[in-house]
Amino acid sequence: MKSIWTDTAEFTERKPLHGNITVQVAVIGGGIAGILIAWQLKQRGLDVVILEEERICTGQTGCTTAKITCQHNLIYDRLIRQFGRERARLYAKANLAAVGEYEKLIRERKIDCDFSRQTSWLFSTEKVDGVEREAGAARLLGINAEYTTYTGLPFKVKGAVKFEQQAQFHPLKFLKVLAAELTIYEHTRVISLEGGNVIRGRTAEKTSLITDKGVVTASQVVFACHYPFVNFPGLYFARLHQERSYVVALENARMPEGIYLGVDGDKFSLRKAGDLTLLGGCSHRTGGNRGGGEYDVLLEKAQQWFPGSREVKRWSAQDCMSLDGIPYIGRFAASKPHWYVATGFNKWGMTSAMVASGIIPDLICGTENVYAPVFSPQRFNLNASAGNLLCNLGISSAGLVKGAIAGLNTKGKVTKRCSHLGCKLEWNADENTWECPCHGSCFADDGTKLEGPAQTGIRL
Ligand code: FES
Repeated sequence: MKSIWTDTAEFTERKPLHGNITVQVAVIGGGIAGILIAWQLKQRGLDVVILEEERICTGQTGCTTAKITCQHNLIYDRLIRQFGRERARLYAKANLAAVGEYEKLIRERKIDCDFSRQTSWLFSTEKVDGVEREAGAARLLGINAEYTTYTGLPFKVKGAVKFEQQAQFHPLKFLKVLAAELTIYEHTRVISLEGGNVIRGRTAEKTSLITDKGVVTASQVVFACHYPFVNFPGLYFARLHQERSYVVALENARMPEGIYLGVDGDKFSLRKAGDLTLLGGCSHRTGGNRGGGEYDVLLEKAQQWFPGSREVKRWSAQDCMSLDGIPYIGRFAASKPHWYVATGFNKWGMTSAMVASGIIPDLICGTENVYAPVFSPQRFNLNASAGNLLCNLGISSAGLVKGAIAGLNTKGKVTKRCSHLGCKLEWNADENTWECPCHGSCFADDGTKLEGPAQTGIRL
């Protein structure tokens, strides 16, 4: 899918893998997480390659709204209640540090990527209590947060919380510079992995990554491919679902500097990108499209807030959502000590990818990382996870997923089944795609696979 980012940054095409190779680290996936992790590993002197199924940065990284912020919707009040103040503080600190890491890296390497520091706002046009509580919780954790009723936006809000010194950039201009320093094999699809097991309770054997172009033997493996496609071990299919959201780029929509997210209903987000304004929102669990009306909702809102504005581009993105609202960054599973994963970024891929690029290289190199326990995929908090877990397993009262598992077909049409674990697919009329409500695989109207965890297309 094309966005204003993919339209304005071109990457040199990389050759596919040819034959068999042996490396220290194989990173699966050439999006922002894979590139940042590989780049940091290379700085530490490791021999690392990226294996990318298609072209780098053409997945979700190319469809982001590219906000770099530790303001992750209404999160801190909830984190304090569910995980305690210290874990919430570490989550905030890790993401705040990630904002600073971007600036440092961009300055040091003199990367021309439209980076700018911005104030980040959460606003509500309906009520004040949520944002007011969030401001208090954020301050408690050491964030420079302030509750206000003035945002500078061309419409009134009931309440807002602002975080100073957050940022925005052009993600592909940034990644192009880092990617140029890395060994990357494009058009190289990892089909399966063999090995990586513990031998005699002590060391782990190497892993063979079987691709469609050859075999990569690696001492360490990093899954940075958005949604891990390996079902066992790890059970990520029970621990992640995906949500699709939509963006329109508008001209003639005057708004102030700043990055904004509404906390009501369709959760509209706003930021400027040069002369354009990006208006996003209308997020839904995959398979839950409102019959083709998501972009219409955005355009209606655009006319309400920015009369006379015009759409110049539209695109959508899919995000992996973890059970408890914290990304999974760390060891993939206890039985595979040299496999690592970075996923479940919950719509905050820019900062989460940077956090992952600190934690995973530290784990691989045996360096202590204070944030690692907070993001560890091996954590489990029943209180924070139960609702999503039941839904991912198809035993929620939410009809969408329940119906998908049971294969109900209310319209009497032929049921399309997902090639991952067989759930019933739903049509997305905005994108002309088939979406899976269970774990978010997505297929073109001719059956070609567009998004995993499915590994193959479907027959129509
Ligand atoms: Fe898992 Fe469709 S994505 S069954």
